[in-house]
Amino acid sequence: MPHDVSWDEYNAHQSGRRPRPSLDMALDAVGPSTSPDASGVPTEDRVAVDLGCGEGVEVTALLEQGWTVHAVDGEPAVLRRLAERTPADHAGRLHIHHLAYAEIDALPEADLIHSSYALPYCPPEHFDRVWATVRAALRPGAVLAVQVFGPHDTSFGDPEMTFHTEAQARALIAGLDVVSWREEDADGMAYTGPKHWHVFHVVARRPTEG
Ligand SMILES: C[S@@+](CC[C@H](N)C(=O)[O-])C[C@H]1O[C@@H](n2cnc3c(N)ncnc32)[C@H](O)[C@@H]1O
Repeated sequence: MPHDVSWDEYNAHQSGRRPRPSLDMALDAVGPSTSPDASGVPTEDRVAVDLGCGEGVEVTALLEQGWTVHAVDGEPAVLRRLAERTPADHAGRLHIHHLAYAEIDALPEADLIHSSYALPYCPPEHFDRVWATVRAALRPGAVLAVQVFGPHDTSFGDPEMTFHTEAQARALIAGLDVVSWREEDADGMAYTGPKHWHVFHVVARRPTEG
């Protein structure tokens, strides 16, 4: 993200889009609730974390499907908008955490951790600690869906961002079962205009034992 565009501006632009495919894939991997109510909404307390949730499109989708959701982001305005637009009957399941990556040293235990296009913006000096908290928060059987950026990405070299080679990205999920692994290495569009995307789209599951 060029530094002349604020996260508030970027995130506001996300309002109204569909939830990202990474969330659909993660939800497919989690599977249906074992105890839906008459309308199909799960009644058990399934917990999700959306790390770097931005405008909260995925947070809202999870709330609508009955999840308890911890929405984490460093940008106060998006979290305010998320709280304001969340209907009262969902608000009790929404937990908002205004945290910069520099401040994250624990996350709630979760059945699903989603983090779309957000972890690359964690400064390198904080990444290992943040990643350790993500891994520690995965309950047995929990699903993780993240994107990390590779060295061919246009933004490579930004000192405030963290990049991973394929080997490094695979090492991040060591010990997890790979549900889906896709490398994108192609020209495309970003909010700020054309760019080259080098992204590892990863969905993985913590084994139920071990
Ligand atoms: C590209 S947006 C992705 C937002 C959302 N997950 C999505 O898919 O649209 C990156 C998010 O990371 C957050 N972010 C960037 N730097 C951060 C930092 N140092 N600490 C915490 N959050 C940060 C921004 O506020 C923004 O919401």
